[in-house]
Amino acid sequence: MENADDAGVYRISEDSAIVNTLDFFPPIVDDPYDFGQIAAANALSDVYAMGGTPRLAMNIVCFPKELDVEILNEILKGGLDKIHEAGALLLGGHSVEDSEIKYGLSVTGFVDPKKVKANSGAKAGDVLILTKPIGVGVITSAVKAGKLGYAEAHSALSSMKTLNKASSRVMVEAGASACTDVTGFGLIGHAMEMAKASGVNIVIDSSSVKVFPEALALVKKRSCRPRSIAGVRDFLSGDVIKGGIDEPLEMLMYDPQTSGGLLISMADEKAQALLDRLRGEGIDAFTAGKVVNREDGWRIRLE
Ligand code: CO
Ligand code: CO
Repeated sequence: MENADDAGVYRISEDSAIVNTLDFFPPIVDDPYDFGQIAAANALSDVYAMGGTPRLAMNIVCFPKELDVEILNEILKGGLDKIHEAGALLLGGHSVEDSEIKYGLSVTGFVDPKKVKANSGAKAGDVLILTKPIGVGVITSAVKAGKLGYAEAHSALSSMKTLNKASSRVMVEAGASACTDVTGFGLIGHAMEMAKASGVNIVIDSSSVKVFPEALALVKKRSCRPRSIAGVRDFLSGDVIKGGIDEPLEMLMYDPQTSGGLLISMADEKAQALLDRLRGEGIDAFTAGKVVNREDGWRIRLE
């Protein structure tokens, strides 16, 4: 817990450990089936980020009694489809009456204790690889506010629904030094956690970070900037120094993600092979920066 890792790991034997995690939140999109898929993909991701394989899942549901139960059925169907895609089983769950819908999963996975990927293994000289573009927070806020059509958010939606299953398998096989997933703390926040846990500093190369073009267009308009971005930025600002980065792009580096990609720290000489393998699996992976030696006065340099 002290390193803000993605999930808890409990060793049962020499070659077997369980990975436990829980995640749930209110709808970030209107379509109940889409929301169910996204919430489940997001919850499963913390097991993948640790290098584990999800095996068991339980639903966590809050639902208002005045809403049509068909909405709940669609949410649960979306979640179940993702649980099955992950190769896991739904064992049950718990629901309570509440004024606002909330949905998510508690997930139990298995991992070989020798292959656990914590966020604390990044080494100076490593290359950072990210497996999904960023900007989904800006996009979903704009859709909620009626500033972007649902159809225009298509690529962000399909990214959030995509499991980190293949990314995780390839990352474990390639022998990554460290891994975490990018979620509510934005790219910089999760890179910061990795830097602190690993005792290193991290340089983010913003020009190589893929962003959704819709998100960049939105964030250029101040009225389309979710307040959450400034919240994350202010919280982290004491540890971040920046070079000549355009301000709208800088904002996206702090954008809270839902069901974001895996942020992988990989030895320099093996990084290109990992990128090639990820892309071979159809994953839109790219280099996001590099790991450098610890220096006082900063943790993340944004270039
Ligand atoms: Co996580
Ligand atoms: Co989480």
